[in-house]
Amino acid sequence: MSFSLPDLPYAYDALAPYMSRETLEYHHDKHHLAYVNNGNNLLKGTEWEGKPLEDVVKGSFGKNAGLFNNAGQHYNHIHFWKWMKPGGGGDKIPGALEKKIVGDLGSVAKMKEDFVQAGVTQFGSGWCWLAVKDGKIAVMKTANGESPLVHGAQPILGCDVWEHSYYIDYRNRRPDYLKAFVDHLVNWEHVGEMFDKASK
Ligand code: FE2
Repeated sequence: MSFSLPDLPYAYDALAPYMSRETLEYHHDKHHLAYVNNGNNLLKGTEWEGKPLEDVVKGSFGKNAGLFNNAGQHYNHIHFWKWMKPGGGGDKIPGALEKKIVGDLGSVAKMKEDFVQAGVTQFGSGWCWLAVKDGKIAVMKTANGESPLVHGAQPILGCDVWEHSYYIDYRNRRPDYLKAFVDHLVNWEHVGEMFDKASK
């Protein structure tokens, strides 16, 4: 199975003003497409050709840096588009997930604060995450194309803090971008679905 670029699950201007059409056109049509094309070229002839994406990501980590970077970013971006929706964010979190967040992290407000802080303090390019690790919800941050998948955890929410994700709309104000993501963009229903799968 080769990699292919999924369509955005909403119109290019659906996330404005928090994420503009221009950002989504560059981010999805150019950056994500480049990971797909480079990943397909680097996958050819390797032991991971034909394997499911998660297996390619986990298998190539630490073994084939070029392939890992592109496959990892392909995985991260497939989910990133689905982790946002118009009119998202806020505190409308599915019940089972909300209960788990409160139990493991103290409160929804604390989870949001820690998530934003992880993104703000990720030095250089990378991602901040909510993940299920050892049966608990954890806030994580990773560099470049890495994700909780290669650190023994299952991601359920991630925010892209590469500059290509926010520089057009927020310039250098990464904290403002992260706050807008949490307050207005997160598709908590999709996070809840990934939590349910990760908990099985
Ligand atoms: Fe990105």
